[in-house]
Amino acid sequence: MNGKTILVTGGAGFIGSHLVRLLVNKYPDAHILNLDALTYAGNLANLKDIEDAPNYTFLKGRIEDPEFLKKVFEEYEVDGVIHLAAESHVDRSITDPMAFLRTNIIGTVELLNAAKDAWGDRQDVRFYHVSTDEVYGSLGETGLFTETTAYDPRSPYSASKASSDHFVRAYHHTYGLPVVISNCSNNYGPFQFPEKLIPLFINNIRHERNLPVYGDGKNTRDWLWVGDHADAIDLIFRKGKNGETYNIGGENEWKNIDLIYLVCDQMDAALGREAGSSRNLITFVRDRPGHDRRYAIDAAKLTNELNWRPKLQFPEGLERTIKWYLENSDWLEAVTSGAYLQYYEKQYQQKTS
Ligand code: NAD
Ligand code: TYD
Repeated sequence: MNGKTILVTGGAGFIGSHLVRLLVNKYPDAHILNLDALTYAGNLANLKDIEDAPNYTFLKGRIEDPEFLKKVFEEYEVDGVIHLAAESHVDRSITDPMAFLRTNIIGTVELLNAAKDAWGDRQDVRFYHVSTDEVYGSLGETGLFTETTAYDPRSPYSASKASSDHFVRAYHHTYGLPVVISNCSNNYGPFQFPEKLIPLFINNIRHERNLPVYGDGKNTRDWLWVGDHADAIDLIFRKGKNGETYNIGGENEWKNIDLIYLVCDQMDAALGREAGSSRNLITFVRDRPGHDRRYAIDAAKLTNELNWRPKLQFPEGLERTIKWYLENSDWLEAVTSGAYLQYYEKQYQQKTS
């Protein structure tokens, strides 16, 4: 990484901010650029501790803007791209699919074009696309997603991510662009916008608001500590093979309702509330349309080829997460202030009416 300039997109978001912090601290001789549009999900407060680092530069702009991207590649002589910028929430993709098409598909193709135009035939460069296991669709009670599982996206979010994965592979096969892709399971940890399950429920419990459980609560997700994902991205970026895909997962499957009980019980303990009081906030609501039943990852390829394993599991990871949100309630209040609460309440009413 010495002397290299790495362009991270979406670095002001949840996973991106953990990755940018890791790269800035671990590679003082590399220049880390963070390109982010600062949508509702992007927040420079996530990177306060490294904002003055000499090897870090923030660039505000959109990945769908080809003129802006061209200037960035020309001005900074980018050697590698790690692309995380995306619309990332399934529920929002159901109410506004076009935003997902614009950012996740068109934005990714614009970024591929900018990299291809700037790099020509260079093979000492790399375009890394950070993607999701949701592209594989939904599992039954058994089985795991591998890198060869057929794509079967079922939400507008996963359809847009699947499409962008296909474009990244197409640029490798058609133009010889050196690319790598990873598909990861559900992440959790500090700085996740509190519309995703874990931080939403932590915040709702703080405010003694209802906890909306979709459907029967038995949908299953494989939860990975965000720091373990950032480590995997760093490793794959440096050591992965061009044209390959790597699955990343937590070996940590939970039915939503069991996870929610754990969050409730840990929150009661952390807040010194009577045991069982948070569970009383659980409210079963209308199911998410097209709700995928189960995701679970087989990460054997990454473990066998690059020796990666998740380091932090439940319950410690969840305890650390809860502690962080309670100690950073100012951050929570800031990101949920203004229009967000009205938006959330309207969505909640629609799920219960
Ligand atoms: P996030 O929503 O927290 O952050 C997305 C970031 O992208 C924000 O900083 C936002 O401002 C920025 N952004 C959005 N649209 C943009 C645009 N048009 N131009 C430039 N910047 C833009 O997302 P996240 O949860 O950190 O996810 C990051 C990536 O990882 C996404 O590509 C997502 O698909 C993928 N992923 C997420 C998870 C997960 O559990 N969160 C799991 C697997 C893969
Ligand atoms: P989410 O965090 O939105 O991630 P994803 O849909 O990408 O997996 O949701 C995780 C699980 O929790 C999913 O099965 C939907 C469910 N869920 C609820 O039951 N209630 C909620 O309010 C939210 C946001 C999610």
